[in-house]
Amino acid sequence: QMPEKVTIIEVGPRDGLQNEKSFIPTEIKKDFIKGLKDAGLTEMELTSFVSPKWVPQMGDAAEIVADCLDDRTRNIVLAPNRKGIDRVYMTDCSAVAVFVGVSNTFNQKNINKTTQESMNELTPIIGELKEKRFFVRACISTAFYCPYEGKMELEDVVSLCRQFVEAGADELSVADTIGMAAPHESYALFSRLKKEFPSTLITAHFHDTRKMALANIYAALQAGIDRFDTSAGGLGGCPFAPGAAGNAATEDVVYMLERMGIETSVNLEKLVKAIDVVQPYLSRSIESTYYRLHIQK
Ligand code: HMG
Ligand code: MG
Repeated sequence: QMPEKVTIIEVGPRDGLQNEKSFIPTEIKKDFIKGLKDAGLTEMELTSFVSPKWVPQMGDAAEIVADCLDDRTRNIVLAPNRKGIDRVYMTDCSAVAVFVGVSNTFNQKNINKTTQESMNELTPIIGELKEKRFFVRACISTAFYCPYEGKMELEDVVSLCRQFVEAGADELSVADTIGMAAPHESYALFSRLKKEFPSTLITAHFHDTRKMALANIYAALQAGIDRFDTSAGGLGGCPFAPGAAGNAATEDVVYMLERMGIETSVNLEKLVKAIDVVQPYLSRSIESTYYRLHIQK
């Protein structure tokens, strides 16, 4: 049975922009975020507190956060390690996303640690965040395929998710990092996670490398998932996952859901306006179907 309502977690300001080669002015990023909030997006990844040497685009995280927090939105920031968490503590943020890959090789390329080394560092940090009343989201990368190791075992994904749930995470955001999952795999993993972790928020995060994101989202809906990470304009991709293209485009996902009679709270006209703010600064063109049809009009 399909949900009546779906929550969109907008990841455009973070996943969408982190892979952009030329630095986008901080003021433009702030206007983009404000535009997305005006469009009705209520949960959002604003930025990430990672090493500015590894990801220069996210070097303005503290400035973004200083201007973009509000009470109506769950404003999430990413942090991969103790140093990142300490930077978050210097701000007024109250929602943090930690991230780790199921694949060791991917985790090493992305965070310079094995998956277990990352978990050893993150487990006590999650406990500490919960004591401080943070909302904690755990992003699980390469949950289907890894660009270095190939197919991932479903049981390995489940046991990594279990470590996060036992550590106290409120949400699991489970990702097809390089857009290789097929709908039957999306259905299989998400039905299993729904059954396994009934009191944890479970979110699906699909990259659209092979144009299967919408089909994978449909399959996840059938598995009972009602939370999806999407990126305005279909921007995005992890700089340390070769071949990763953008996320499922927010406007295409919202369009599909609204056509299906599923409520999202997102206003498509205003969403297009938000994309227009950042579009002139991008080194790539916007390929989402909804946006292209809209600008042709
Ligand atoms: P490292 O070089 O091993 O770190 O990088 P280190 O602890 O050895 O420190 C080296 C230097 O970085 C030191 O500075 C630290 O202070 C500094 P120095 O002494 O040389 O001047 N440093 C930091 N600075 C700011 N913030 C920090 C931080 N940590 C250390 N948090 C590190 C390890 C984790 C920092 C690095 O690998 C990193 O930043 N990785 C982030 C990679 C990233 O952002 N990936 C994209 C996000 S994940 C993603 O996109 C996937 C997702 O969308 C889901 C999916 O689709 O799969 C979520
Ligand atoms: Mg991603």
